[in-house]
Amino acid sequence: MTRLFRPLAARHTGRSRAASAALAAALATSLVVVLGACAVEQQPIPSPGVETPSPTPTPTPTPTPTPTPTFDSSRYSIDDPASLWVVSNKLRPLQPTDYAPDDIVRVPVAWANEPFLREEAAAAVVALFEAAESEEGLELQVQSSYRSYSTQVRVYNSIVANQGQEYANARSARPGHSEHQTGLAVDISSVPSVCALDPCFGDTDHGRWLAANAWRFGFLLRYPAGKTEVTGFAYEPWHFRYVGPELAEELHETGVQTLEEFFGLPPAPTYAD
Ligand code: DAL
Ligand code: ZN
Repeated sequence: MTRLFRPLAARHTGRSRAASAALAAALATSLVVVLGACAVEQQPIPSPGVETPSPTPTPTPTPTPTPTPTFDSSRYSIDDPASLWVVSNKLRPLQPTDYAPDDIVRVPVAWANEPFLREEAAAAVVALFEAAESEEGLELQVQSSYRSYSTQVRVYNSIVANQGQEYANARSARPGHSEHQTGLAVDISSVPSVCALDPCFGDTDHGRWLAANAWRFGFLLRYPAGKTEVTGFAYEPWHFRYVGPELAEELHETGVQTLEEFFGLPPAPTYAD
């Protein structure tokens, strides 16, 4: 994989907001350079050996300004709900809270519940599942994927009703706070299903392979063990968040486990109200 920002890959386990901004800026610069190179390549090349008539003097044309390549900064915002880097937690509701992505597609993989994700995340899940199967013979399926605000209302209320508020708050996000609402989060289980949506999934071959390899496909194990005080949620070895290949690789290489720590955000153990 090409590392556009290799010089910035800090080898430490903490990262300030400034460092993260630098990472985004480096990505921007690299992409602009690439786009600029492409623009140069598209200049017409004069054919050699073609006779040209004597030039008739013509007025000097006004130079057309070269278009500046644009960089999609929304891809690298932690606030924009449509960004691959958006950080949603108990202190950071999605804005707007009823946000719905506009590029949800059906994911063509095995499932326990029919899977839908944003286009880029869906393609990454396909690649992830194919690699698990071809490299280790591990069959995976989607347990849960995109959930709209109203679906999250039903899920959260049902857990509160059945297991109580405290249990629900450690395991299910309030509507407007769930990564599932971004279309970038996927809950994965094994085929046949063993330890589905249970912490023991982390001790299965499938769970171990995912924890070690999901970053290669742009995913982060978002709720690791021992980080409940930071993320606000109990260990979920089945919940993977698509952040894109650049950030996933950077998190893997630096060993930073949570988005809160990587972006220098405050821990989010509880809701503000
Ligand atoms: N289970 C995760 C925290 C969610 O509900 O989004
Ligand atoms: Zn989940």
